[in-house]
Amino acid sequence: MKNYFSIKDIDSIENWVNEAIELKKNPLANKTLGTDKTIGLLFFNPSLRTRLSTQKAATNLGMNVIVMNFTGEGWSLEYDDGAVMDQGTSEHVKEAAQVVSQYCDVLAIRAFAKLKNREDDYNEKVLQSFIKYATIPVINMESATGHPLQALTDAITIIEHKKKNKPKVVLSWAPHPKALPQAVANSFVEMMQRMEADFVITHPVGYELASEITKGVSIDYNQKNAFKDADFIYVKNWSSYEDYGKVSEDKSWKITEEKMKQTNNAKFMHCLPVRRNVVVDDAVLDKENSIVIEQANNRTYAAQLVLKKILESK
Ligand code: CP
Repeated sequence: MKNYFSIKDIDSIENWVNEAIELKKNPLANKTLGTDKTIGLLFFNPSLRTRLSTQKAATNLGMNVIVMNFTGEGWSLEYDDGAVMDQGTSEHVKEAAQVVSQYCDVLAIRAFAKLKNREDDYNEKVLQSFIKYATIPVINMESATGHPLQALTDAITIIEHKKKNKPKVVLSWAPHPKALPQAVANSFVEMMQRMEADFVITHPVGYELASEITKGVSIDYNQKNAFKDADFIYVKNWSSYEDYGKVSEDKSWKITEEKMKQTNNAKFMHCLPVRRNVVVDDAVLDKENSIVIEQANNRTYAAQLVLKKILESK
């Protein structure tokens, strides 16, 4: 495997999830695979889980890790070919990606959607530029439109917790005061389409995800109805795709204990970080059915599996 850009890079979800679960049982089984290899983690946005779990995954494989917070520390990068760089940008991605490729064996990048221009975000300018000019494999640690490490984690977590072959999985929008990208929701939808699941998305009118991503998926604008008999409730806020970047704080969509009672004793999932009592009530997050901490733990094994596959194919 060259790059891990989206879940399309996974040939078999079933095999990958099973392999990740095996890695979890014995995380140090391949502790020399990455000896004398270096991964560079470049962050254009904040992180807790992605940064630490990817670093831990690399360490479990014996790799060296270099981390750089680009915003504030790195030169401001230019992505447009032929740009006359007499304004804010100091270095072109063409040089930056090639230079980093000399210091590292694998590169992982986080670069969120800017939510200003939908075309720019959905063209994945930052990640695709690095993929174009880097001479080493590139891993997506959440780009403008996708978070494939999170989606692999979510698949592992659902497989570990499901009690029936085809569980009902509901992706529910919830309110948030800030404009958040659609990346996590997009990758989760793509993952659910490849898994055995009775999958439903529920969100307010106007918060539809890109139709090419949700094609064929059941959408219910009535959250209460969607929650009925659900085995998993996966919660995430995203800003509008249609009215690009528009925020809604509609409190009637907050996840409450009352709403969870409509479900089939569903497990509660969220990629974190989560705003307590805005997105979801304490009463839901603090209940035993909330598996968000286990979900975050699985980030390590998702990242470790991706790294293992890249190192094995080098
Ligand atoms: N879920 C997730 O990606 O968490 P961080 O933003 O903390 O990395």
